[in-house]
Amino acid sequence: LSSIRQDVSGVEPGTQLTVKWLGKPVFIRHRTGAEIDEAKQQDADGMAELIDPLARNANLKPDAPATDANRVIPSPEGEAPAAWIVQMGVCTHLGCVPLGDAGDFGGWFCPCHGSHYDLAGRIRKGPAPENLPIPPVEWVDATTIKLG
Ligand code: FES
Repeated sequence: LSSIRQDVSGVEPGTQLTVKWLGKPVFIRHRTGAEIDEAKQQDADGMAELIDPLARNANLKPDAPATDANRVIPSPEGEAPAAWIVQMGVCTHLGCVPLGDAGDFGGWFCPCHGSHYDLAGRIRKGPAPENLPIPPVEWVDATTIKLG
């Protein structure tokens, strides 16, 4: 597996960076405190209603549940623990690239056939069958992420 390192020091809370890894887009989103709170509320409200109950996180066991905590990468020191979401920017329906900050759940929206993902990248509405997959990812230092 080829890996890349990405400096994310310029990714302010409330914004998202898209990088290419293995020829595919990867979304690196820095969630705000309000987004983290909302994501946790979505967690509390919606776990029983999830279309896909699995975290789809390559860093966890395949049967890990799709809780918000299992969908984030642990933050570097000093950050809110659930600030960072890193996931493939490839809709699990037919592979379009979803739009950020969009859709009924404030996360991502795939305009091709109308799939709505929440603030943790979990599919909530529409034809996509699975949550956006989380690639192998880790912090190298306080501002650098390694993919792969
Ligand atoms: Fe995203 Fe069909 S490809 S909804």
